[in-house]
Amino acid sequence: MPPRHNMESTERTPLIATVVVAAPRQRYRHNFVRRTCTAILVCALAAVTVVFLFGPRYHAHYPHHGKSNAISFKELQDILLDTPKEETAREWSRYYTSGPHLAGKNYSQAQWTQERWVEFGIKAEIVAYDTYINYPLGHRLALYEKDASSRLDPSSGVDAWKVKFEASLEEDVLESDPTTGLENRVPTFHGYSASGNVTAPFVYVNYGTYQDYEDLIRANVSLKGKIAIAKYGGIFRGLKVKRAQDLGMVGAVLYTDPGDDGPVTEENGIATYPDGPARHPSSVQRGSTQFLSLAPGDPTTPGYPSKPGVPRQPVDGAIPSIPSIPISYLDAIPILAALNGHGPSAKDINVYWRKNLGLKYKGVEYNIGPSPDNLVLNLVNEQEYVTTPLWNVIGVVNGTISDEVVVIGNHRDAWIAGGAGDPNSGSAALNEVIRSFGKAIEKGWKPLRTIVFASWDGEEYGLVGSTEWVEEYLPWLSHANIAYVNVDVATTGPTFHASASPLLNKVLHEVVSLVPSPNQTIPGQTIGDLWDGRIHTMGSGSDFTAFQDFAGIPSIDMGFSPNPSMPENTADTPIYQYHSNYDSFHWMETFGDPGFHYHAAVAKLWGLFTARLVEAPVIPLNSTDYAIAIGKYISAVEDKLDAVMTGTAIKGDDIEIRARPNAVGATGNINDLKVSFKRLHKASSSFSSAAEAHDAFAAELAWEAEKHIPWWKFLWKLKLFYRIRRVNNKYKYLERQFLYKEGLDGRSWFKHVIFAPGLWTGYAGAVFPGLDEAIAVKDYSNAQRWIEIIETTIFKASKSLE
Ligand SMILES: *[C@@H]1O[C@H](CO)[C@@H](O)[C@H](O)[C@H]1NC(C)=O
Ligand SMILES: *[C@@H]1O[C@H](CO)[C@@H](O)[C@H](O)[C@H]1NC(C)=O
Ligand SMILES: *[C@@H]1O[C@H](CO)[C@@H](O)[C@H](O)[C@H]1NC(C)=O
Ligand SMILES: *[C@@H]1O[C@H](CO)[C@@H](O)[C@H](O)[C@H]1NC(C)=O
Ligand SMILES: *[C@@H]1O[C@H](CO)[C@@H](O)[C@H](O)[C@H]1NC(C)=O
Ligand SMILES: *[C@@H]1O[C@H](CO)[C@@H](O)[C@H](O)[C@H]1NC(C)=O
Ligand SMILES: [Zn+2]
Repeated sequence: MPPRHNMESTERTPLIATVVVAAPRQRYRHNFVRRTCTAILVCALAAVTVVFLFGPRYHAHYPHHGKSNAISFKELQDILLDTPKEETAREWSRYYTSGPHLAGKNYSQAQWTQERWVEFGIKAEIVAYDTYINYPLGHRLALYEKDASSRLDPSSGVDAWKVKFEASLEEDVLESDPTTGLENRVPTFHGYSASGNVTAPFVYVNYGTYQDYEDLIRANVSLKGKIAIAKYGGIFRGLKVKRAQDLGMVGAVLYTDPGDDGPVTEENGIATYPDGPARHPSSVQRGSTQFLSLAPGDPTTPGYPSKPGVPRQPVDGAIPSIPSIPISYLDAIPILAALNGHGPSAKDINVYWRKNLGLKYKGVEYNIGPSPDNLVLNLVNEQEYVTTPLWNVIGVVNGTISDEVVVIGNHRDAWIAGGAGDPNSGSAALNEVIRSFGKAIEKGWKPLRTIVFASWDGEEYGLVGSTEWVEEYLPWLSHANIAYVNVDVATTGPTFHASASPLLNKVLHEVVSLVPSPNQTIPGQTIGDLWDGRIHTMGSGSDFTAFQDFAGIPSIDMGFSPNPSMPENTADTPIYQYHSNYDSFHWMETFGDPGFHYHAAVAKLWGLFTARLVEAPVIPLNSTDYAIAIGKYISAVEDKLDAVMTGTAIKGDDIEIRARPNAVGATGNINDLKVSFKRLHKASSSFSSAAEAHDAFAAELAWEAEKHIPWWKFLWKLKLFYRIRRVNNKYKYLERQFLYKEGLDGRSWFKHVIFAPGLWTGYAGAVFPGLDEAIAVKDYSNAQRWIEIIETTIFKASKSLE
């Protein structure tokens, strides 16, 4: 149970609340000021004051200029590059991974984090929410066989069932990895799973995508009343359970198939953890089964913060109603092998069922079932549901300009005592970023814009801590937030990846070339030199979701991971044992990031990224990049429509195609819809012109801000200040223009018309989700409606830049 003082911390005035109060000052009503200024002398005096207060700030903080009381941008940059250290990152990693820190279960970790930040010189507070969450009480998975001989015994009267296999539901304790043997380690379970005790025949459902289940229906495999055995992979786990539930199945068992580990497997003779880089056979992927693509956050408070005493909504439709449990491949083998010879064979269904059958060598034939009459599974899942506090740690450094704010964050909670990769490689890096900014502040630096640092709780259950916080501070964030910079897993391998709003592409490309790569095979090479330069679209699966998709704040998520498609991903590329006990400090130190070099690199990159956003006089967003992206997204959706019209296969990755539901008869006119795309192209080209003009003007102002302006040209300086102010406001509010207040169909929490997690995939990003989903189900009248919404939105965005 949480200690009493946690509740008290919610009653103190949070740092942010005071900022909220201060934010709506209307100091820069420029039209008014301008008119007045030209008229009266008094205003000129005020102008001098403003110049003294703000004018020189731009100067002092802009790159290449460093003459002022504060430190120069160059000096700041050097501090941010020099401060993060492997040893300190390692120390933070060791702390975070030394005991369990499930959401809402470790107040002392929140406190410790806050204390470190304060030590680094950053004011920080714990911000609590009362959230609805589950904790594991018990579980069981057993394979029962009907004892044929006992039926012959007339005295028994009933059929006798005996246990053929009892799943351990435990991960092996490894001598060399102390985390795996902690007394208080976290059991294997699913977040937001339903309690239940079901006994039923079972069916192998492949990855459990919509089309996997459709294939089974087509093959006349009976699903109703059965337990689904699904592989992890492809789509978000909660959606596998959801479809099973929708089809009348009574339970779901999710297992990790080593076939999805590529070449790094026990089967290929590669040693398993801790002796080698392959997955430990007993490793289990915990995780949330919330229906994440419908709405993240506390399922009892959609759209508003989970403060004590707020009304609570029913959770039906947001989380599963059938029980589910995660298991290892070791536990899956006897269960899958029991299906051998029963029902169709996976290889006869289609190509999607034939890949990555990693347990063949263990005697699993991958028959689908259902299991014969004499074989059933007993699945027991006991969960305790409580409404309990979660603790975000929020640090604030006030900038000179109070209504321009950059938020950076990482979650702290993990499914396991470890979590050295997810999320605490990010937590260690965040501490190093804050320590670095603390050093700069010590040297007299004051940021131009406000920085908010966040250590989120409850991410793993469904982005709970960040979502509730964004819902609480929405008015302030909408008014002041320029960008959100997320790092969840900082590192589990050497390959850099990023997804972002296109507005942030430019800053990212700039800073990756400033940070040395830990890989110095070629001396001097930077992170940028080793990056393919691809920036993915924003999906979901981490704390940027509420910022990007709900509040319309340009966001980025980045980190390093193993890249399965890289040629060097062979025998010695360690498998990341996600959400298992083996995501531990020992694993990180031995396989993930020996030496903690990538931890330090992320801290440098994250710090520089933040510094650019906070210090550049003209906010370094780029709207032309957004316009280019929008043009591409429109064409991508139109290509899908063209494919439908010509009866050719829709291009897209397997996951997206397999996740889509079937269309039930077309409604509306497809030809009219095709014609309407012209309107989108027109809107897009209008936005493009506005964006280019805006960026060009911004570039000009940035250039002028760099020049030295003598003090007696203070009126000119004042004018420049107001011009920059106006340009910055347009950048600040641009992403907000893409919000549609009614939200997406059937998931109104999602407000962004361009980005959302795929409705049917959960993780992957969809573009123009409303339109794309309507076309996918052949609802052309609804698609037409979305064309109009999108058109209006893009024109609105375009106008906002003029
Ligand atoms: C930031 O400034 C506001 C007033 O504008 C003040 O109330 C708040 O305490 C300051 N926060 C920090 C962390 O200095
Ligand atoms: C909280 O986390 C710390 C540091 O990881 C750990 O030492 C402690 O055992 C955890 N406390 C609880 C109650 O699990
Ligand atoms: C599950 O249900 C069965 C049949 O009702 C019962 O015998 C068994 O004790 C239950 N198991 C648990 C753990 O409650
Ligand atoms: C499924 O059942 C239907 C109706 O009984 C039958 O027409 C069809 O051939 C069966 N399909 C398969 C793949 O067995
Ligand atoms: C390290 O750098 C070299 C030289 O650029 C490159 O060929 C290699 O792929 C890199 N290795 C990793 C693991 O990034
Ligand atoms: C904005 O992006 C466009 C396209 O990538 C580029 O041509 C332009 O130079 C950028 N503008 C600024 C100010 O960075
Ligand atoms: Zn995470």
